[in-house]
Amino acid sequence: MTHSRTPLAAAVAASVLAVAAAPQAVAGDEEKIARGKYQVTVSGCNDCHTPWIDGPNGPEPDMSRMLSGHPADFPVASPATMAGDPWLVAVAGTNTAWSGPWGVSFTANLTPDPETGLGKWTLRNFVDTIRTGRHLGRGREILPPMPIPMYKNFTDEDLEAIYSYLQSIPAIHNPVPEPLAPAAPATASN
Ligand code: HEC
Repeated sequence: MTHSRTPLAAAVAASVLAVAAAPQAVAGDEEKIARGKYQVTVSGCNDCHTPWIDGPNGPEPDMSRMLSGHPADFPVASPATMAGDPWLVAVAGTNTAWSGPWGVSFTANLTPDPETGLGKWTLRNFVDTIRTGRHLGRGREILPPMPIPMYKNFTDEDLEAIYSYLQSIPAIHNPVPEPLAPAAPATASN
C-alpha cells in the first residue's frame, strides 16, 4: 500500500476481512461433515448402531432412531443359547445386541446426547477409542463385532470427519446397557 489510511478506515477494512473469512470456515466444516456422513454411510455404522425394524420392504434401520444404539426399552437379560457347531454368534432382531463367546455386547449410542451418547467426547476421545480398541483409549476393551481391527486403519482426516458428522446429528437420549458376561464357564475370559 502506498497511500495511508486513517485508523478508522483500517479498522473497517479489518472487520470486513473478518466477516469475509467466517463463511469460509463454515464451508470447511460443512465439507468435513458431508465427508463424515459419507464415511459413516458406506462403512455400515447404521447396520449395527441404528435399531432395525420391519419396514414395508423388509428389515431396515429405523432412521428416526439413527445411530442411537441398542434401545433401552428392549431389555436383553441373558446370552443366547446356541445349538452348537457351526453356530457361534447370535444377533437380536434390532441388530443392536450381539451374543457370542465374549458374552453379550450392545451397540453404543453415537449421537451427541451428553449423558447417553458421545456429546461429551472430544475428537481425541473418539480417535483414541478407534485406534486402541479401548473405551476412550484407556478403559475396557471394545467387544466384537465392533470392527476395530478394520476401523483403526481410518486416516486421521477420516476419523475427524466421522467425529464431526456424529456431533452434528440429532441427539437421542438412550442409555445403552453394559455388556453381559459369557454364560458358559468354559469360555470365561482372563
Ligand atoms: C458389526 C457391528 C458394528 C459396526 C458395523 C459398527 N459398530 Fe461400533 N460398536 C459395535 C458394538 C457391538 C459396540 C459395543 C462394544 C462394547 O460394548 O464393547 C460398538 C462400540 C462403538 C464405539 C465405542 C463406544 C464407547 O463408549 O466406547 C464407538 C465409538 C463406535 N462403536 C463407533 C462406530 C462407528 C463410527 C462405526 C462406523 C464407522 C461403527 N461403530 C460401526 C458394533 C458395530
